[in-house]
Amino acid sequence: MGQSAQKIVSLDNGKLLEILNVAFAEEWLAYYQYWIGAKIICGFMGPNVQEEFEKHAKEELEHAEKIATRIIQLGGVPLLAPSDWEKHAKCKYEVPVDDDVVSLLKQNLESERCAISRYQQICDMCFGKDHETYRIAIEILQEEIDHEQDWENFLADIKRCEACLKTINNCEQTI
Ligand SMILES: [Fe+2]
Ligand SMILES: [Fe+2]
Repeated sequence: MGQSAQKIVSLDNGKLLEILNVAFAEEWLAYYQYWIGAKIICGFMGPNVQEEFEKHAKEELEHAEKIATRIIQLGGVPLLAPSDWEKHAKCKYEVPVDDDVVSLLKQNLESERCAISRYQQICDMCFGKDHETYRIAIEILQEEIDHEQDWENFLADIKRCEACLKTINNCEQTI
């Protein structure tokens, strides 16, 4: 553990480690949510969304890795037991209620919005006080914002396609 790395942080280290472990737990749950979602997904545009879920799962795992490394640099210990992830996470794991694309997209959209608020909170906490954690948090925040945008775009595309199909069906009925 780096002594200087800890000394230059002008924040309550205990509080910072606590919130970083919350984020760490949430990243593992987000990873699994995408991973299992990619396995069970079906429906319209399913294969496209499945590919994106797999990509997102990989990115959530990278976030967990970055947070774990930072926790250790600050002299803390990342949560060691998976059973602690659900206890500590405030962005909860959304058990898939349906294997339909839209349902899974909506659940993951909610999770991304929660992740955005978590990294916004960490950025606010660290701004001007812990440059390194701030840098990591802002990097992750940018990716969570992209994730939210991806799902909003997919949901909008699906809506447009549905409207389009309805119009085609109506046209066929009048011919
Ligand atoms: Fe993440
Ligand atoms: Fe994300």
